Amino acid sequence: MAEIAVYPGSFDPITNGHIDIIKRGLTVFDKLIVAILHNPSKKTLFSVEERMSLIKASLKNTPNVTVDTFSGLLVDYAVEKKVNVVLRGMRANSDFEYEFQLALMNRRLNKDIQTVFLMTGLRWIFTSSSIIKEAARFNGNIKGMVPQVVERTLRKKFKELDASDPHEA
Ligand code: PNS
Repeated sequence: MAEIAVYPGSFDPITNGHIDIIKRGLTVFDKLIVAILHNPSKKTLFSVEERMSLIKASLKNTPNVTVDTFSGLLVDYAVEKKVNVVLRGMRANSDFEYEFQLALMNRRLNKDIQTVFLMTGLRWIFTSSSIIKEAARFNGNIKGMVPQVVERTLRKKFKELDASDPHEA
């Protein structure tokens, strides 16, 4: 039986740190489902459709990865997909407490679902979607931190936001 893992996240937007986890995840699992959380009550820069198309464009030449969206509990989504492994990346210490909480809560909700962590590559240890958005918002250089398509789309998005309301962007 092929070993499949779900790699969930907000991916607002996908970064090279996420891509590193996906590529390395594919050396451990036969297939990955990149699952984007669709949570209408959480404000995101990109819509779920935009996030999905950025992930697909960034992973164009990567086989054995499917991209999907989910809402509600991650463990319920995993059961629906008949997958019992959740893959998460762990960066510095600062991630540990949250990731530990998330993994323990998921196990409490469904003891059959296991969380597997991959340590983030050293290059990506301080890469996060939020910090990249912050830098891009003020025209900072984010080259090499996100796929080129994401970099272009971020620039375009902030230009549009600036044009529509210079105080909001
Ligand atoms: O990229 P993120 O924001 O760190 O990803 C967090 C995510 C999407 C994995 C997490 O918030 C999640 O799984 N949300 C779905 C609801 C859920 O199952 N929460 C955990 C138990 S309360």
